[in-house]
Amino acid sequence: MVGSTVWSQNSIPYRPPLKSYPDTIPLSPINLIKGEANLKRIGLTLVKVCPVSKIKQGELLAFQVQGVDIVLTLLGGRIVAFQRWCTHEEGDLSMGMLEGGVIECPEHGAKFDLSLNGRNVLGPDEEEAGSVPDIRVFKTEVKDGNVYVEL
Ligand code: FES
Repeated sequence: MVGSTVWSQNSIPYRPPLKSYPDTIPLSPINLIKGEANLKRIGLTLVKVCPVSKIKQGELLAFQVQGVDIVLTLLGGRIVAFQRWCTHEEGDLSMGMLEGGVIECPEHGAKFDLSLNGRNVLGPDEEEAGSVPDIRVFKTEVKDGNVYVEL
């Protein structure tokens, strides 16, 4: 039939394209101003979270910033921030297992790859990848010895 879409059981579910942000905004004063202007334009703000010295390699630290629950960690020298609550049944990802940049939920074992922008790479109870929504990964920046997260 013309114009209709047929889905089979083997159809690949639609996944929206990943947002791509530059890894860091260069910290020269003019770029900082430009970066902040761009964030305002798209409705995002940089929010200070904590001193950078608090974040240790592989450790998971939970914070609430402006009402948003996030987890911070240091991965290969890069600070990564992601949403605290699992997209399955809100397991606490700050209590999860982090291995090779993949966070595993302590409740039913769903896995999310932080290097792939929080993509679900294993579902709960070993269901297929993509069976629950991806988690949100936030852009981070270090300024004046403090960690900022883009919300
Ligand atoms: S709550 Fe995270 S896998 Fe179920």
